[in-house]
Amino acid sequence: MSSTTNSDQMQSALQESRKFPPPAALAAEAHVGSPEAYEKLYKESIEDPEGFWAGAAKEMHWFKPWDKVLEWNCPDAKWFVGGQTNLSYNCLDRQVEAGLGDQTAIIWESEAVDAKGKPTVLNLTYSDLLSKVSKFANALKKLGVKKGDVVTIYLPMIPELAIAMLACARIGAPHSIIFGGFSAQAICDRVNNCESRFLVTADGGWRRGKSVPLKKNADGGMELTDRIETCVVVKHAQIDIPMKDGRDIWYHDVVTDASDVCPAEPMDSEDLAFILYTSGSTGKPKGIMHTTGGYMVYTYLTSKISFDLHPGDVYWCTADIGWITGHSYIIYGILPNRVPSIMYEGGPNHPGNDRFWDIIERHKVTKFYTAPTAIRTFMKWGDAEVEKHDLSSLKLLGTVGEPINPEAWMWYREKIGGGRCPVVDTWWQTETGGHMLVPKPGATTTTPGSCTTPFFGIDIAVVNSDGEEVPTNTGGILVIRKPWPAMLRGVFGDRERYIDTYWSKVKGMYTAGDGARKDEDGNFWIMGRIDDVIIVAGHNIGTMEVESGLVSHPAVAEAAVVGYPHDIKGNGIAAFVILRGDIPVGEEAEKLKAELAKHVAKELGPISKPDVIKLTDALPKTRSGKIMRRLLRDIAAGVEIKGDITTLEDKSIVEKLQKR
Ligand code: WT7
Repeated sequence: MSSTTNSDQMQSALQESRKFPPPAALAAEAHVGSPEAYEKLYKESIEDPEGFWAGAAKEMHWFKPWDKVLEWNCPDAKWFVGGQTNLSYNCLDRQVEAGLGDQTAIIWESEAVDAKGKPTVLNLTYSDLLSKVSKFANALKKLGVKKGDVVTIYLPMIPELAIAMLACARIGAPHSIIFGGFSAQAICDRVNNCESRFLVTADGGWRRGKSVPLKKNADGGMELTDRIETCVVVKHAQIDIPMKDGRDIWYHDVVTDASDVCPAEPMDSEDLAFILYTSGSTGKPKGIMHTTGGYMVYTYLTSKISFDLHPGDVYWCTADIGWITGHSYIIYGILPNRVPSIMYEGGPNHPGNDRFWDIIERHKVTKFYTAPTAIRTFMKWGDAEVEKHDLSSLKLLGTVGEPINPEAWMWYREKIGGGRCPVVDTWWQTETGGHMLVPKPGATTTTPGSCTTPFFGIDIAVVNSDGEEVPTNTGGILVIRKPWPAMLRGVFGDRERYIDTYWSKVKGMYTAGDGARKDEDGNFWIMGRIDDVIIVAGHNIGTMEVESGLVSHPAVAEAAVVGYPHDIKGNGIAAFVILRGDIPVGEEAEKLKAELAKHVAKELGPISKPDVIKLTDALPKTRSGKIMRRLLRDIAAGVEIKGDITTLEDKSIVEKLQKR
């Protein structure tokens, strides 16, 4: 089942022909305003990547210019070699020096609301943020943090999270941010892996109306490892917590007397900016390393182009900063673009299921970026929640994290975007640092389910295991053939794993682990992880397509598809289906299952028809919202669950599914 050799023949049955050209008004003002403009610039960027990226880098501040744009010894890239810059300087000081200090950098909104239903909102200007970041940077220095020391950050979505990361960047201390939903064991593993001696946490955070005891988890983590020497604690959720003498210290105490002037440290372009551990996989955490100059330029330019950012925009990405999406597209790529970035503390359903639409209406959000898993949840919650609010400020909608099935794409476009906003489906990874396949909103004609064409400078292709491009509309391995500025520089402390995972499947090319096809218009379609491909009677079936087939039935809200051993076909297809309404029982249930199977056969052909359908009210997901198909494979095969389940969000779901 988990064959990579056969995936170069992955078959595609998905038919989608709806096309949406860019809205004329947006195109007229866009940074990239026509297909011709995109084609021309793309060609230039591929023929002369060094010239192209030097041009982009010049839009930012460098303490010392680079000597050489690129040094490439596969699989090691160095960008802007010899140049010196600073991420925090480009996010903050530059804006203040340009006289824009009074403009809003971050709009923070609390989850909790008062008796009148009002949340707490903080507008942090570039000047405010610069002063707070400088204070905390000075405090960190005083606590003994030196350039190169890794600082672990385990915070909820509060302003101090943005402040702490920018303070680290300011003094050249790489950060390792751990998502606030992770456990004590996860903290310990990550702290040990990067040998971090400093931790920044909070008493707690708010999520769906309940407080999350972060310090308690952090204490648990610090019991499992003795590496943390200093733990700075933000008071936020007003939870009573123990403070350990000599180790734990309050954030408000360390910043009170600290000076608000702290010059940004000139960093070499290739100095480590941060480590971010990837989610969802088994075994040892994988610390993805990103460096300074290339990451900075790439996230700046992709933010500008993909979201077509202009003065006057209000931008909101709903991700947590604990994921790469938040690193790149709440903070590092957005602040240099001088557009306010909303940081919302909590969940989508507090106090009501319309919280996101309420936020968009109140802040007049123009550019909105969220995940397919959220969109499908909103569909399930019903259109009435959306219709309560005026969403006419929206101009562009983005998605990231998983393939978005055409049904959800259309709903997003129609119900949220009012049919007038381009949907920007961004394909990328923690490892790529920024968008790789992405519509240019003023230039690209979009089609539901496709992440369309490459970003500038990205030489991306669908190949077989010999690295040869496969024919149009044939599934294969998605590879990147040339280095790009924000590419990962390695896996922390594990050179072998870096080479094994990314550089050994197809010689000389970066493999992303995804299967894809390219259509006759040059648009890319992600077919799912290569490891998830199911070989049914010799045919390779992409899970994503069967899932889309199921979701296109009006009764279905979400579906996950896996293979299981089948006597005749080698593998059968098992589908786990969440319905929009209640789950029927007995004969009704059987009737619906038969109807769903027939529907898929009609949409995709009989080979893709599920053999087994299980109706469920929830699916096992990682905390970042990705379906854990390996658990579903074990459940479908009726065997004991193997492997790590520490990243699973709700463990009870597995037991429920086993009983179905
Ligand atoms: C994997 C990377 C990129 C930030 C969030 C996830 C899947 C991501 C898309 C998309 C289809 C997508 C891929 C990729 N993925 N975006 N637009 N269409 N698939 O980061 O945890 O590093 O996961 O997410 O499978 O390889 P990540």
